[in-house]
Amino acid sequence: MEGRFSTRWRFSRIMAMIQIIIGMFVIFISVASLHRFYNVSNLLHFSSIGACHKFDAITEGILHEGGYAPFDLKALSEQIDKVLSQLSELQEKLESTAIKLSKNAKKGKDKKVSTVGENITLAEFQRFLEDEVIRPLYDAHISLRLTRIPRPEDAVLGAHSGALTEDPLVNYFTIEETRKYITAKINRDDVQNVYGLNKTYNTIGHTCVLMKEELEKYMNYDVGSYCGDDWDLGQKLMLGGCDPLPRRRCLARASKLYQRPLPINESLWTIPDDGNVRWGKYKCHDFKCLSYRNPKRGYNKCVGCFDMEKEKLKWVSNGSLVDFMIKDVLNVKPGEIRIGLDVSVTTGTFAARMREFNVTIVSTALNIGAPFSDTIALRGLIPLYTTMSQRLPFFDNTMDLIHTSNFLDGWIELQLMDFILFDWDRILRPGGLLWVDRFSCARKDLDDYMYMFLQFRYKKHKWVVSFKSKTEVYLSALLEKPPRSL
Ligand SMILES: *[C@@H]1O[C@H](CO)[C@@H](O)[C@H](O)[C@H]1NC(C)=O
Ligand SMILES: *[C@@H]1O[C@H](CO)[C@@H](O)[C@H](O)[C@H]1NC(C)=O
Ligand SMILES: *[C@@H]1O[C@H](CO)[C@@H](O)[C@H](O)[C@H]1NC(C)=O
Ligand SMILES: *[C@@H]1O[C@H](CO)[C@@H](O)[C@H](O)[C@H]1NC(C)=O
Ligand SMILES: *[C@@H]1O[C@H](CO)[C@@H](O)[C@H](O)[C@H]1NC(C)=O
Repeated sequence: MEGRFSTRWRFSRIMAMIQIIIGMFVIFISVASLHRFYNVSNLLHFSSIGACHKFDAITEGILHEGGYAPFDLKALSEQIDKVLSQLSELQEKLESTAIKLSKNAKKGKDKKVSTVGENITLAEFQRFLEDEVIRPLYDAHISLRLTRIPRPEDAVLGAHSGALTEDPLVNYFTIEETRKYITAKINRDDVQNVYGLNKTYNTIGHTCVLMKEELEKYMNYDVGSYCGDDWDLGQKLMLGGCDPLPRRRCLARASKLYQRPLPINESLWTIPDDGNVRWGKYKCHDFKCLSYRNPKRGYNKCVGCFDMEKEKLKWVSNGSLVDFMIKDVLNVKPGEIRIGLDVSVTTGTFAARMREFNVTIVSTALNIGAPFSDTIALRGLIPLYTTMSQRLPFFDNTMDLIHTSNFLDGWIELQLMDFILFDWDRILRPGGLLWVDRFSCARKDLDDYMYMFLQFRYKKHKWVVSFKSKTEVYLSALLEKPPRSL
């Protein structure tokens, strides 16, 4: 019997109270919004601030210090309409539920039989409250809160007329949110910010223009509400070079079954709980399915990546000549290798192993065919969700080590590779190590690729070429960046 509402009057009373609260909320919003419109329109004509003292408490949250900001009137009225209709929908739903429950309860009393109304469990009641009451109220709250944020265009136009028209990109996109995003944000009162600037630009990749259709679809979301379940569309845009993405103002969905991750002494070498990943966009729907024995697993790089027993052997037990041991690599610079970057298709195993050697490694990871980023994070390591289009977000001469495997390989166009390698060279510190791990390419291309690595005149600590097949080779190398102290 525990966990059950034994008496129906208790449930009905809760429903009634919710209805009263919602009713009050509707009245409150109506009054507040009317008041706000009144003031805003007042402001437009006379700039009279401070009328209607008795509503000060209500509008306190709506007021900016020093007066009213230029509100986005259209958005405000749209949001209020939306909120009001959401609230009345909610009220109807609650009323009909309450009626249904009381009918059931009556029937139950007459026939002396238990009913649905009586038997509602706490869990069910909680779910009902969450889905039907709390979430809509939260959405409404966020929508209203957001109307406090003035349109950047208004700020721009108010302070410096014409600034908007100077930016042709803004007018290229039709979705309002994209336009708001890329419009320059002038600092309040034009003061300089911590960077010594008086405005800030949010950036997008230039190919967003080429992928306009997809981008508009991606950006057509309700600000402040839950994002669509479309991270894969975002990743597609990123891979197409529309990177960084302009979507910033919705709440990313998490797995319904998300539990806290394992403690660090267990997480490093344990496949995470299936419940902690949203599987909707993958071929596989659990980690077991991603096993290397399964031919249909949906990604083809990184064989064995999701099998910890296999992963545990990497870089610590004897493999072929092209597989260097971590301890041998670290012995090249004893105690000097502390931080690094792993540019690989990986579930974080290199970073996990290096962590045991007290080296902190950031692993790049996109979720192509499998939840690589999620897995790395759940193992207690740092995934860097980035594409090759981006200059790496690290300063010059900072990293002790860059490790790469399964990534560049023989498909890469030489000029693209050049841009990548120069960027790696930039972030490696003098005396830092570049570990090229099983770079594979066609035998006929080997000379070209070898030149790419050798052009930087790094010191060769290790350099091994071995056959993968008749026509393909592996190259593994351990190279040290020279001082370049000019
Ligand atoms: C309600 O619970 C009682 C016992 O707790 C059970 O006999 C009855 O079938 C239940 N009714 C419904 C509709 O689940
Ligand atoms: C912003 O700063 C630049 C120089 O950094 C200056 O030329 C410009 O006038 C400033 N704009 C405003 C509105 O203060
Ligand atoms: C991890 O640490 C906790 C306490 O810090 C301990 O209770 C647990 O047994 C450890 N697990 C393993 C696998 O060592
Ligand atoms: C790995 O191979 C080396 C020689 O190539 C040998 O000295 C060492 O014992 C081997 N280690 C293991 C763990 O098999
Ligand atoms: C890592 O650091 C810990 C604590 O400082 C130390 O006990 C351990 O020996 C170190 N491990 C290695 C492989 O250096």
